[in-house]
Amino acid sequence: MNNIKRLLIPSLIAMAASVTAAQAEKLTLYCSAQEDWCQLMARSFEDATGIDVNMTRKSSGETFAQIKAESSNPKGDVWWGGTGDPHLQAAEEDLTEPYVTPMRGELHDWAISQATSAGDKTIGIYSGALGYGYNTDLLAANNLPEPACWKDLLKPEYKGHVQMANPNSSGTAYTTLATMVQLFGEDEGFDFMKGLHSNVNQYTKSGSAPIKAAGRGENTIGIVFMHDAVKQAVAGFPVKVVAPCEGTGYEIGSMSIIKGARNMDEAKKFYDWALSTDAQNLALEVNAFQVSSNTGAEASPSAPDMSSIKLIDYDFKTYGSSAERKRLLQKWDEEVSTLPH
Ligand code: F6P
Repeated sequence: MNNIKRLLIPSLIAMAASVTAAQAEKLTLYCSAQEDWCQLMARSFEDATGIDVNMTRKSSGETFAQIKAESSNPKGDVWWGGTGDPHLQAAEEDLTEPYVTPMRGELHDWAISQATSAGDKTIGIYSGALGYGYNTDLLAANNLPEPACWKDLLKPEYKGHVQMANPNSSGTAYTTLATMVQLFGEDEGFDFMKGLHSNVNQYTKSGSAPIKAAGRGENTIGIVFMHDAVKQAVAGFPVKVVAPCEGTGYEIGSMSIIKGARNMDEAKKFYDWALSTDAQNLALEVNAFQVSSNTGAEASPSAPDMSSIKLIDYDFKTYGSSAERKRLLQKWDEEVSTLPH
């Protein structure tokens, strides 16, 4: 070997090794929680591990559809956040990968039962109750009574004042539909959705959009998770949060590893990290007021107090099943969304 080769070969080998390492150190994250929290999770994981994160935020139903569409050539590694129902559906349709995290011992029972019911293909990361919020200034300016129950939202005086998301794209709105079916029974639940439709001014893509619009004064009442309404109130907007008098449903926000993930080791690292107290405490930095799944994570005093809210015994197994989610969405498309306003 001549001198040049002797010098070049080891450095070429070292370069090749570092290129391979650099190529492996990345993660594609599909995020369905609030945008600012998604960004903070991605950047903090990069800081903690040096792994580059490519993050996209889409609503829960949209992300489910994307993962399904990409299943023959998966592009995402981890799906973090979003309501649990479509995560359960993804597990049932074999779109996600089983993984038993060493963090399990630190989690609340409700987070583990989400995993158990899906053969460890998903796990709970937070929970939060459904409700609605309204802009107090707009309510007063329009001489409207203060609503306190779900059924109040059917009153004709609220026509054009209520906004919710489309349950096909949004996990929040699917939780609303499944809650009404569980709270009132299927026939009455659909009658409620039809009555509500007359008062709805717009079905948005994202679940929290209706209360952001209320915060900005562009909409009066938004059906959302209560923590999303609290976020607007804490930001200083004139938003009042309502836990409806009949009782309400809730979500177990979830996380899953995508089957066939190209960066499987990094996906598992993210998964374990996302369940740690340090990662879950990041929620407080962006006013994400969900209840964290790690028992040691801090809770904000502004967060809705789940123990004082009348919660239904939400049947995640049934309403997160592929057949039931498809059936309810199709029925809503055919019988509710097509009605005139
Ligand atoms: O904004 C946060 C949040 O409400 C989460 O608690 C929930 O899992 C997610 O958004 C649902 O978003 P979407 O309704 O857009 O699917």
